[in-house]
Amino acid sequence: MSSIMGLYPAPFVAAMKARGIAWFATVTTAAEARAAERAGADAVVAQGAEAGGHRGSFEPGDAERAAVGLFALVPALADAVSVPVVATGGIADARGVAAALTLGASAVQIGTGFLRCPEAGIHPAWADALALAAPEDTLVTRAFSGRAGRSLANGYARAAAAPDAPAPAPYPVQRALTAPMRGAAQQAGDVQRMQAWAGQSARLAAAEPAGEVVRRCWDGARALLG
Ligand SMILES: Cc1cc2nc3c(=O)[nH]c(=O)nc-3n(C[C@H](O)[C@H](O)[C@H](O)COP(=O)(O)O)c2cc1C
Repeated sequence: MSSIMGLYPAPFVAAMKARGIAWFATVTTAAEARAAERAGADAVVAQGAEAGGHRGSFEPGDAERAAVGLFALVPALADAVSVPVVATGGIADARGVAAALTLGASAVQIGTGFLRCPEAGIHPAWADALALAAPEDTLVTRAFSGRAGRSLANGYARAAAAPDAPAPAPYPVQRALTAPMRGAAQQAGDVQRMQAWAGQSARLAAAEPAGEVVRRCWDGARALLG
């Protein structure tokens, strides 16, 4: 079972342990990793600021304040905790897997790198835009849900970042407020108004079955690591 944006309460963790369920806790800082280990996490998922989708910060305010990149986060966590570290954020090919393992990760987690796989079933307009996105073509915004997440810097996200734009409502109110727009965008195939989550390595996402992506990442990483 995995967690994000905080830790499970002690009685819930005890119930998981009693059932033999392993707990993978998403963390974004060394302090969060230490807290997760103290709370009983079996592994920590180190989410770098490059990651697509919602930031996993425990406190909403830390999502932008403590935006640590994966290259700094993984070695820091490998030194800070004794449970395995799973690296995630911006990894989408064999080079990223090999780098993460070299930095001290025991495994990697890939999100955006699977979005163009047929199994993901996302809108073709979103999938096509991912293939064209440079690392600087994403941004972290609260405008879709009220909590910070990394998306394509599309028309809506850029307009919401303008100095005179209204502040987003808190999570999950903002999510409800944007639902009609997001629904209409899906209908129209308009990626400029979609909640088009994307990590900074979106360009590396391949339009091929997920199993092929995994095989290529792992075979390539093994070759790189010798
Ligand atoms: C479309 C999308 C949806 C996601 N949904 C979740 C989620 O429900 N729970 C979660 O823990 N992480 C979620 N994530 C975050 C991933 O677990 C992971 O941290 C992130 O994708 C890693 O960065 P990458 O996208 O650069 O690979 C999501 C990511 C994306 C792109």
